Amino acid sequence: MVRGTKIGSDHNLTSHSTRKDCYSILSSNKQLREFKLFVSNQLFTRYLTDFHKTQSWFAFDTLFVLWLIAEFQYTHLPIVNGAIGEIGVHRGKFTSYLYLLRHRSGNQTLFAVDVFAKKSLNIDQSGNGDRNEFLKAIKTYANVSVDEVDIYEGNSLDLNSAYSNNTSAQYWWQKKVGKNGFQIVSIDGGHTTLLTYADLCSVSRFLVDGGIVIVDDIDNPGWLGVRDGVGRFLSETSSLFNINDDSILFNMLKRHTFAPTLEFSCRIVEVTSKAGQSEHGCSRLVPILHYANKLYLTTSNYYPHYMNFLAKLNANGVNVVTYDALKSVAGNVPIWSDSQSNQRGIPNNNIRPTWLAEITRATG
Ligand SMILES: C[S@@+](CC[C@H](N)C(=O)[O-])C[C@H]1O[C@@H](n2cnc3c(N)ncnc32)[C@H](O)[C@@H]1O
Repeated sequence: MVRGTKIGSDHNLTSHSTRKDCYSILSSNKQLREFKLFVSNQLFTRYLTDFHKTQSWFAFDTLFVLWLIAEFQYTHLPIVNGAIGEIGVHRGKFTSYLYLLRHRSGNQTLFAVDVFAKKSLNIDQSGNGDRNEFLKAIKTYANVSVDEVDIYEGNSLDLNSAYSNNTSAQYWWQKKVGKNGFQIVSIDGGHTTLLTYADLCSVSRFLVDGGIVIVDDIDNPGWLGVRDGVGRFLSETSSLFNINDDSILFNMLKRHTFAPTLEFSCRIVEVTSKAGQSEHGCSRLVPILHYANKLYLTTSNYYPHYMNFLAKLNANGVNVVTYDALKSVAGNVPIWSDSQSNQRGIPNNNIRPTWLAEITRATG
């Protein structure tokens, strides 16, 4: 399942030997597994209750969206042993929550990448990482001790052989933390175009099929490098979808605001695929969701499943997202988004009882 490649090798965007294509995944029989998060619900409750006590750079509702995604991965795909972690952890507030989402089997690698005390490497002064505070947070909120987390203290560019000769960092990334592939990764380190692009590229190469990458600050006008880096990554790994490729599909997407069927989504992936190799060995990732200043991407073959999953949530009254047909600010495929929804009015200062009930049921 892992989409691995040799360090420094080129990567073919279209013929991936280990990846099943979109259509074969549609026809395969999905094994259902019982969904169980690793941690007790007391930890979840503590995290949610204490949320507003410390500064954070993400919306409270994001916690619910992420929880739903983890549940979907564990139950329906099922992916249970990919690594979970973040590039750019600051003091561990968001990372702790990602660690809370680990599977109860306990086989997942938990990782963190940050310059921490090497402040000169933080060239755009995004955040202010602190290793001790980070370790304290993950212990308090996710019950993860220092020996349970793999930490790289340094520049995330070191992880990418196209930009660095640091083979030990690249070995750590690929063979140690990435040995079973990455399952949920947040990219929130340096916010320049290059760092965003290179981090996406480094993660894309080892993301498990159906894994999720979350890019922070996609809407932030103070950090335009993020949008630029994402744009560069998407244009290098996929083709623009335009009317000449498939005018019927194009017009359907343009006119309709309903979510596409699974087969329809496969076709979208197909018409936006790109032949050849990416310049810096990146693998294709496709956006699925644009929510509260974060962009969520997955491997192209699982795009239809996430589109369908979010459609079902919507149909079942979990109205955190609306479907955005070709109107998204990010990428060249239709995705789900909060941009046109009034659901962002979810009160931010108290725990929504429905979340807690769901989380309690699943973790209890
Ligand atoms: C915006 S903060 C992260 C916030 C954190 N994700 C949260 O939500 O609480 C950015 C972090 O990236 C780290 N950073 C900046 N440049 C980096 C680089 N080139 N490589 C690794 N980490 C970097 C900073 O030290 C800082 O801790």
